[in-house]
Amino acid sequence: MKKVLTFVTVLLFVFALAGCTSDDGVVTIGANIYTFNDNFMNGVVRPELESYAQELGVEIDIVDSEGSQATLNNQVDTFISKGVDVLVINLVDPAAAGTIIDKAKDADIPLILFNKEATVSGVMDTYDKVWYVGTDSAEAGIIQGEMMVADWQANADWDLNGDGKVQYVLLKGEPGHPDAEARTVEAVKAFTDAGIEVEELAIQPSTTWSTTEAGDTMAAWLTTAYADEIELVISNNDGMAFGAIQAMTNASYDIPIYGVDALEEALAKIGTGDLNGTVLNDGVNQARATLDLAVNAANGVDVLDGTDWVLDSETETKAVRVSYVAVTADNYEDFQ
Ligand code: GAL
Ligand code: CA
Repeated sequence: MKKVLTFVTVLLFVFALAGCTSDDGVVTIGANIYTFNDNFMNGVVRPELESYAQELGVEIDIVDSEGSQATLNNQVDTFISKGVDVLVINLVDPAAAGTIIDKAKDADIPLILFNKEATVSGVMDTYDKVWYVGTDSAEAGIIQGEMMVADWQANADWDLNGDGKVQYVLLKGEPGHPDAEARTVEAVKAFTDAGIEVEELAIQPSTTWSTTEAGDTMAAWLTTAYADEIELVISNNDGMAFGAIQAMTNASYDIPIYGVDALEEALAKIGTGDLNGTVLNDGVNQARATLDLAVNAANGVDVLDGTDWVLDSETETKAVRVSYVAVTADNYEDFQ
């Protein structure tokens, strides 16, 4: 009897460690990345989701939505029919949050949205078991802007035509994406807030955050009549900055350029002076917060249980926002 009891105790302990739902065994998570073709999401967030799931003893299935919201909708249906305990979803179209929330709600499965925040106002209030994990989109632009203003003020020779204004081009990323929109506004606003006039020479109306596409755009800009007037390249992510840097190298230009994300390669490029600065988008902590909330939600306990995460008190109450950090030539080594 004693042996049996010990065995049962051990089993219970193992299940407790593994994190178990009320009904059965190990927590199963149905997850996606909006496209595996994204430097930050595929290179930083996805590997951390996988390794942290292992550390937590939960099962995660991460599928590639290949940039198609229709594909993601089908993937969510499949996860639901398989009976996953929780959904961890990276929207393709941030305006389509309602569709996913409705599916989760109908199936009574908790849902964590991450990285791409829903853009439909009030949609997060339509389900009590949906939360968001990401950042404060504007913060990256504010930090990037402050960095650029400080460098502009310290380098009088950056004002090539000496008119006191910043003639810039901007690589925006995905239109309608809260990060792309907010970063664009805030990065430029930092100059005007500092009393520095700006002139936008061109902005990339691209649908992606891709290196190749940004490289082609920058290469094209460098063949225009205003090519020699470009004094600054603002890039809303590092991936696009890499393309622009390559295009500048090919055309023998060396224009100050700033990114966002702080990818490994970006840190290396700060070291070589090819990139002037970036902003750490802390994908590791975003992945960890996402899974912490997901596992708690699956277990039916308070999503913040046993964690240090806090819910955003300023905008709404159902989002965890991980902070951005400025990365310059002075501190990039700390992030390598
Ligand atoms: C942003 C990131 C971009 C891209 C995007 C995808 O936060 O800075 O590089 O990964 O998310 O939604
Ligand atoms: Ca100027």
